[in-house]
Amino acid sequence: MTDSVERMWARLNGLGYGADYNPEQWPASTWAEDMKLMRDAGVNIVSLGIFGWAQIEKRPGEYDFGWLDEIMDQLHEAGVSVCLATATASPPPWLARLHPETLPVTKEGTRLWPGSRQHFCPSSDRYRQAAGNLVRRLAQRYGTHPALALWHIGNEYGCHVSACYCDASAAAFRRWLRDRYGDLDALNGAWSTAFWSQRYGDWAEVSPPRIAPTFANPAQQLDFARFSSEELRSCYQTEREILREITPRIPATTNLLSLWKPVDFFAWAPGLDVIAHDSYPDPDDGQTVTAAAFNYDLMRSLGGGRPWMLMEQAPSAVNWRLSNSPKPPGVMRLWSCQAVAHGADAVMFFQWRASAGGAEKFHSALVPHGGTATRTWREVSEFGRELTGLAGVRGSTVRAQAAIVLDWPNWWALELESHPSTWVSLVEQVHRHHAPLWRENIAIDVVAPEADLSGYRLVVVPNLYLITDRAAAGLREYVASGGHLVVSFFSGIVDEHDRIRLGGYPAPLRDVLGLRVDEFWPWPPGTTHEARFEDGGAAFGVDLWADAIELEGAAPVAVYTDGPLAGTPAVTRHRFGDGTATYLGTRPDEAGMRRILAAAAADAGAAPVLAGLPDGVEAVRREGPGGSHLFLLNHGAEPVTVTVPDGSALRFGDGVLDGTSLNLPARGVSVVGEAVQVQKSKNQEAM
Ligand code: GLA
Repeated sequence: MTDSVERMWARLNGLGYGADYNPEQWPASTWAEDMKLMRDAGVNIVSLGIFGWAQIEKRPGEYDFGWLDEIMDQLHEAGVSVCLATATASPPPWLARLHPETLPVTKEGTRLWPGSRQHFCPSSDRYRQAAGNLVRRLAQRYGTHPALALWHIGNEYGCHVSACYCDASAAAFRRWLRDRYGDLDALNGAWSTAFWSQRYGDWAEVSPPRIAPTFANPAQQLDFARFSSEELRSCYQTEREILREITPRIPATTNLLSLWKPVDFFAWAPGLDVIAHDSYPDPDDGQTVTAAAFNYDLMRSLGGGRPWMLMEQAPSAVNWRLSNSPKPPGVMRLWSCQAVAHGADAVMFFQWRASAGGAEKFHSALVPHGGTATRTWREVSEFGRELTGLAGVRGSTVRAQAAIVLDWPNWWALELESHPSTWVSLVEQVHRHHAPLWRENIAIDVVAPEADLSGYRLVVVPNLYLITDRAAAGLREYVASGGHLVVSFFSGIVDEHDRIRLGGYPAPLRDVLGLRVDEFWPWPPGTTHEARFEDGGAAFGVDLWADAIELEGAAPVAVYTDGPLAGTPAVTRHRFGDGTATYLGTRPDEAGMRRILAAAAADAGAAPVLAGLPDGVEAVRREGPGGSHLFLLNHGAEPVTVTVPDGSALRFGDGVLDGTSLNLPARGVSVVGEAVQVQKSKNQEAM
């Protein structure tokens, strides 16, 4: 960890607790009350001024820092650190009036107007210049302010506008392509433009994939997705460089959404000094905590295992779903602790005080419209005080023996149209692979396909349709040297330009998997078939997809009992080198998936954090210099009793520990300190 990040954490003196703070929406008379209430609630950090540009720079080049000076001072006096925004996520209306070319344009050619937020073209020099000027002024003014802990650059890049198709963007896309390919021959080859008379003879003919009569060139779409993520990242980096120059000792970040397709988190992560995440689990969705666990593991993995910040979550209801339920009593606390369990060292919310006007006035806040006489305030202020009891976990991490592979270019390519099936959704598939391992309480990292996999006992690869040579070589090496790999259907099909890897699917993985896929047999939604485990075990449902598999050394693990491929393998297993490769040629139902992945984990020796827990109880272990902390989270509506390791001591939460028997109330959380470190990674064991 860099010194600047270490300093940032150290000044919080425990875990971070706070919220987005938008004082510009309130008269100065409210601020004193805010400071008092922040103290009451244990708030020690706020994200300040994220949408403050129009209030800071009221006219071009005319800055009014008075209110920000005042609030920075007040926060400092109240002992609250500031994650200061660069305020560039929502340009003031004057910028659009003076420079309409800063506004983004959709694929259809429609210009998006001001009046909401994020209305900027990422390739607009004018926008970048105006944003840069503001950032420079903010850095010069507040760089040495004692309250400043961290810079918050932009906000949720790509959330509303993830790509722009205007002429400036087209020119930037062409420059990016020239850098990537050097000459047009290379571009024509990569884009397979011999097809449909698409050959380009001049760079000026190349454009973003604007609305077209039918399927746009897939490689063009793929490169445009790469370019768009990079173009947003370069907006972030432009601001980051200014801050680095003026305030080299202050770390910087931006808030990443949950599994967000337009922004390649793996490419962005190295530029963030600390990973920050916005998480909005849906209280009306029964699977929401499983998905949240995945996102939190991803955030931890993006930072190489280092602590991350839960930068935003709702204290209760949001305002932007079709129907917005509040979080039931205890759920905000439970879900906050879930993030901490998975490696967050800060728990923050959107937002401090509920807005009285504007589009988010019905979004929950720590201080609701009803003030402190509200359930939300009682819960958040009690929890803020309680959280100080978890200070000892700061800096610790989760060690995983299993990993799931995720890749943005693959995501972009997999979900392009004109495929055997357009019903394959990467996020859905990733969750289907992750959920059974989560239910078994197996700790998981989320890694890119070219990552070093040698530390993992089990590596799960959902639908890696696009595979680079390096990734294919890495997976081969992983299995050959003793790893257990699980790969699902429609993997290893194309190269990085969406060109088929010829020689029989999945060409680069055929020998590793010991099979060849002759044909794809996708099924439309609603069609289900059945497969049965070969060991005399149960039948399970399958849907969405079936590969016609020809075995080339693999053994069938399960076979279709009906449908067009009856009697042929649905799931296979193959020894390759010192390792094992399991292949899923179809989409098993939940029970089938759970059995396949539990068997693979057991075979690989990827042990649960704690075995034999009732369904709905999550166990996560954080380990660090301060010892080993076992988090037990009861997501269920009934109390449970679980057995914890010998010598455990209750450190936090509402369970009752009697020897090794822990009673955990419904929606309860306990953290127990363990006498010994229980799990070792594959590498550690080898030592
Ligand atoms: C996002 C944004 C916030 C706010 C919340 C509402 O996370 O970053 O500004 O709009 O959503 O849920």
